[in-house]
Amino acid sequence: MSKRILITEPIIPSVIDKLEKRYQVDLGERGTYNDEQALVNDIRAYDALLPMLSNPITGKVIAAGENLDIIANHAVGYNNIDLEAAQKHDVAIANTPGVLTDSCAEFTIGLMLAVSRRLFEAQQYLLNGKFNDWEPLGFLGKELNGSTLGIIGMGRIGTGVARRAKALGMKVTYHNRNKVDPDLEQELDAQYCSTVQELASQSDIITLHCPLTDETHHLINEEILSLMPNDAILINTSRGPVVDEESLARALHNGSIGGAALDVFENEPELHPKLKTAPSCIRTPHIASASFQTREAIGMLAADAIIGILEGQPTSEIPNLIQP
Ligand code: DGY
Repeated sequence: MSKRILITEPIIPSVIDKLEKRYQVDLGERGTYNDEQALVNDIRAYDALLPMLSNPITGKVIAAGENLDIIANHAVGYNNIDLEAAQKHDVAIANTPGVLTDSCAEFTIGLMLAVSRRLFEAQQYLLNGKFNDWEPLGFLGKELNGSTLGIIGMGRIGTGVARRAKALGMKVTYHNRNKVDPDLEQELDAQYCSTVQELASQSDIITLHCPLTDETHHLINEEILSLMPNDAILINTSRGPVVDEESLARALHNGSIGGAALDVFENEPELHPKLKTAPSCIRTPHIASASFQTREAIGMLAADAIIGILEGQPTSEIPNLIQP
């Protein structure tokens, strides 16, 4: 009997086709499996699960998946999956590293430009019929060239941002659990800050590219925000809870920092009410990886891990399995 795969919601069709050539594939409706109980009810029938970040793959879900051999997340992040439970029930976990570096790095640079050059405020002004003539003092922003970028999390995406920032004439500083390879540091001309405090006090723009862990939860809090220069900008394309949104909203409303761009939120998909009204703040719906090429590559990588596990390929040959 053919193995059964659940893809929890529609993804790029070529990925679905690839899996359908080998297995019986069921496709969930958008949003249905954002509910733990819906997963618990249905998971028993499947050998492999291809879930989205928004699906809570809890211990209860994994325990209910009696036939489950692999969960291949449609994302590089996997904070929606209970890794301990997966290990306990001998279920392999895969993510999608590498393939979203360029789209996320490009998007981050786009957000930096948009906040520092006040693009959305300026567009709103124009649409509101206020653009009557060229204004010498209208919408003065800051150039990226010559400014200092502080990167928190110097993995693949952080490094991709650093390369682009350097090309734009920015000075790169970073904070990471460990210093990066000296050759890479030299290539990027990047300066290591051993504390987030040090990085915050000297950066014109801070951008977050760290995973969400116990250590990074609310890493950007009231103390760090108070150390940032008054015109500094915070960019978050990592995970919402890395930032204490209540403190960020206060800093934006008080003008104690210059602006922010947020692609992820603490209680996603909810937007903190005070962030809804915060000035100089761009808010996007978790789309940093949303280019066609990247979303297809994400799906293919997840599908390959599923095929590898279900066909009995040695786990050492499946590059994107997460080792607990
Ligand atoms: C990820 O992959 O973790 C991104 O946040 C969504 O693509």
